Amino acid sequence: MKKPAEIVVIGSCNVDLTTFTSRFPNPGETMFGSRFDLGFGGKGANQAVAAKRCGADVAMVARVGNDLFGEATVRNFAALGIDATHVRVLRDVSSGVAPIFVDANGENRIIVVKGANDRLMPRDIDDAAPLLETADCVVLQFEVPLETVAYTVRVAHARGVRVIVNPAPAAPMDLDLLSGVDYFIPNETEAEALTGMPVRTDREAEQCARSLIERGIDRVIITLGQRGAMIASEDEGAVLVPAFKVEAKDTTGAGDAFIGSFATFLVEGCEEREAVRRANLYAGLSTTAVGTQKSFWNRADFEREWTKRA
Ligand code: RIB
Repeated sequence: MKKPAEIVVIGSCNVDLTTFTSRFPNPGETMFGSRFDLGFGGKGANQAVAAKRCGADVAMVARVGNDLFGEATVRNFAALGIDATHVRVLRDVSSGVAPIFVDANGENRIIVVKGANDRLMPRDIDDAAPLLETADCVVLQFEVPLETVAYTVRVAHARGVRVIVNPAPAAPMDLDLLSGVDYFIPNETEAEALTGMPVRTDREAEQCARSLIERGIDRVIITLGQRGAMIASEDEGAVLVPAFKVEAKDTTGAGDAFIGSFATFLVEGCEEREAVRRANLYAGLSTTAVGTQKSFWNRADFEREWTKRA
């Protein structure tokens, strides 16, 4: 039997407090929402869960607070079979939380309070170094300090471990610090913020991806929601991989579903474009149910749907 992909996610854990509403309130306005949902989230944790649900062996490196949310997060990883040895509880800080608003179209607006996520430091990566010895892939986002992201990229690259960086949420960063990244995967908003270029059309997405490549990134994938994903590299140019049609209820975490599943498919040996196609479907399916991690499909159900649609 093939050995499962070994994926290490270094990143954030939040608890998501999601309010569903017909529309977003105006400044100074109080209005009623239709529904509330409490769930585990955080871009790092979501990506770890997506990879696990897709069949990878996953280890998480993270920091949570000494509160109800922190303990519950660690228990959630254990229940899902994710190695949380390097998810440590810190005493004097809250866990990360994310109040989220989802409108009638399934679009979301999120405020993240980073809390303990902001305390994941380069020395914590040194502590977790044994995980990198056997990892097939390391996955990072921007909800932890950027110095930790840059440090991990250097360490993982030096060890020959494949590195995926999801620059979410977008933050100004010297991209030279990310040389050694195998895949850089922003969504359209993040790509726009990082380059200052618009990403409204496929042509603009291609130009934006090319500008990231000119700034030293090897391979770029810009996720474009319902339009799909634009893959671009110096040697192979750019190609749009279209999305699958779905009835979206809540798009929160779809980007994370894409990243976690893409990492798994890629490590399993899928050719790049095929891995993106599959990840497009996996992300699309996650939008058909509410919540973030709880909307991620398991591998067997995903494969059945893939067979029908592909
Ligand atoms: O990408 C979705 C995630 O962003 C949510 O789970 C929330 O916690 C924020 O990190």
